[in-house]
Amino acid sequence: MTLRVGIIGAGPSGMAQLRAFESARRNGADIPEITCFEKQSDWGGQWNSSWRTGLDQHGEPVHSSMYRHLWSNGPKECLEFTDYSFDEHFGRPISSFPPREVLFDYIKGRAEKSDVRKYVQFNTVARHTSYDEDTQEFTLTVEDLATGTTTDHIFDKLVVATGHFSTPTVPEFKGINSFPGEVLHAHDFRGAERFGGKNLLMIGSSYSAEDIGMQAHKMGARSITFSYRSAPMGFDWPENTVERPLVTHFEGSTAHFADGTRGEFDAVVLCTGYQHKYPFLPSEMSLKSNNVLYPGNLYKGVVWQQNTNLFYLGAQDQYYTFNMFDGQAWFARDVMTGEIELPSLEARDADIQRWLERQAALPDHNAEADFQSDYLRELIEATDYPPFDLDAVSQLLKDWMGHKESDILGYRDMVHRSVVTGTLASRHHTRWLNAMDDSLERYLNGPSQDVDTGTLATLTGDGTVASN
Ligand SMILES: Cc1cc2nc3c(=O)[nH]c(=O)nc-3n(C[C@H](O)[C@H](O)[C@H](O)COP(=O)(O)OP(=O)(O)OC[C@H]3O[C@@H](n4cnc5c(N)ncnc54)[C@H](O)[C@@H]3O)c2cc1C
Ligand SMILES: NC(=O)c1ccc[n+]([C@@H]2O[C@H](COP(=O)([O-])OP(=O)(O)OC[C@H]3O[C@@H](n4cnc5c(N)ncnc54)[C@H](OP(=O)(O)O)[C@@H]3O)[C@@H](O)[C@H]2O)c1
Repeated sequence: MTLRVGIIGAGPSGMAQLRAFESARRNGADIPEITCFEKQSDWGGQWNSSWRTGLDQHGEPVHSSMYRHLWSNGPKECLEFTDYSFDEHFGRPISSFPPREVLFDYIKGRAEKSDVRKYVQFNTVARHTSYDEDTQEFTLTVEDLATGTTTDHIFDKLVVATGHFSTPTVPEFKGINSFPGEVLHAHDFRGAERFGGKNLLMIGSSYSAEDIGMQAHKMGARSITFSYRSAPMGFDWPENTVERPLVTHFEGSTAHFADGTRGEFDAVVLCTGYQHKYPFLPSEMSLKSNNVLYPGNLYKGVVWQQNTNLFYLGAQDQYYTFNMFDGQAWFARDVMTGEIELPSLEARDADIQRWLERQAALPDHNAEADFQSDYLRELIEATDYPPFDLDAVSQLLKDWMGHKESDILGYRDMVHRSVVTGTLASRHHTRWLNAMDDSLERYLNGPSQDVDTGTLATLTGDGTVASN
């Protein structure tokens, strides 16, 4: 009987799984019967963002945490598909840090070329899953959000690709209940325009805090204060930006910090991260993890230890994104079809432990980049995913982190070289700090105004910095 594969979520990870099977089909393989369920009306996951917050038109939690003026925060050269380059999609070099709509266009381009949309049931949310040990079948209950009709589907293999940056972590702070200004989580942030002239407090010290804080600076915030739990970010911030240890309590609009300092604020943005949440799975199949590079209980970061018919994609914290999801999807595909034979439970456990021990000893961000490169290398080497120079990408990630250290407002103006095509990115027509239109149209066809004539540093492929 043909294998039946269910995929939950058609974000970049679910789309990678569809592409992996399509790639096998084109190489002459018989592929399983595939059904993908996506609760939104389009694919793209986080990249398919919306103005909505809270609940969507169907009363479902809004998935995407992305916002207006979101530009890639890592070089696009670190996430490029090896089987579908940026050159192939855009037909010319583009810059290294494109805005959301441009990357959305890129991932859609590959999926459309693969003709895999036919496998996806949109506006369909996964509600409930059970597994029969005797028949080794999953029963997945989904709901058609347009009609409210629920149906059961039987699968031999189930892929969970629902992302983990959607359900916010919302801690409590004493006195915040009577803070008179706006309090929101980064998940509900849609643009910093309204923070112009305001004093803004960001709680958290990771990517969301950094980017939303600098968005607010770009949009004319009067001051930005970051409040950290573990460690400050330590970037060379603009003059209106400071870092403080964690808030101890609020008194009206005053926040008190652990170092005894305090400040008056107009708004608070909780940039306190996200929870892994899988409400459609029973607890014994549900991943419990913080946002880490190697969640436990997944062999090769993908295969559920206690039930090897269950797969998770994209469950990691991410230096690599689209190409790592590819590596995982190709690996999952080959395990499903028996192309890759799984070792024993004990051997899988030992492999997981090896990665967890290495993760626990990681000294810094550079080592983390190497860690994820090595992880992805193992996946790619086990499959026929077109290989690429992972050491070069790891170096690129380190260069990028160095650029952020030296210029937090300017790192997105740097250009990098593709390891897939060798193409050096083009310089964008407008510096990130001055770019006030993040549309695809403006990105590709601008500028008629706002041209930046200042000197920009250009990182050439061999790592030397030149000025233009
Ligand atoms: C604010 C923000 C900015 C980011 N910026 C970048 C960036 O600049 N560069 C980068 O490379 N990465 C970035 N990322 C990381 C991003 O998460 C990945 O690029 C990528 O979107 C992850 O893909 P995914 O498919 O695993 O998950 P997601 O993109 O989250 O997609 C999951 C999909 O599953 C669907 N789904 C969820 N639950 C159900 C259900 N029960 N039933 C059916 N469907 C369901 C959702 O609707 C969604 O379409 C960012 C993330 C966030 C939150
Ligand atoms: N393209 C872009 O520009 C962009 C913008 C935003 C986000 N993103 C992406 O979105 C993803 C998520 O990033 P994220 O920053 O939201 O999450 P994250 O990286 O998981 O960071 C969560 C932060 O919240 C803090 N935190 C958690 N619980 C807390 C508590 N109880 N009190 C105080 N602080 C607490 C953590 O502090 P500790 O350090 O102490 O744990 C950490 O600083 C990343 O993949 C990122 O790349 C991209």
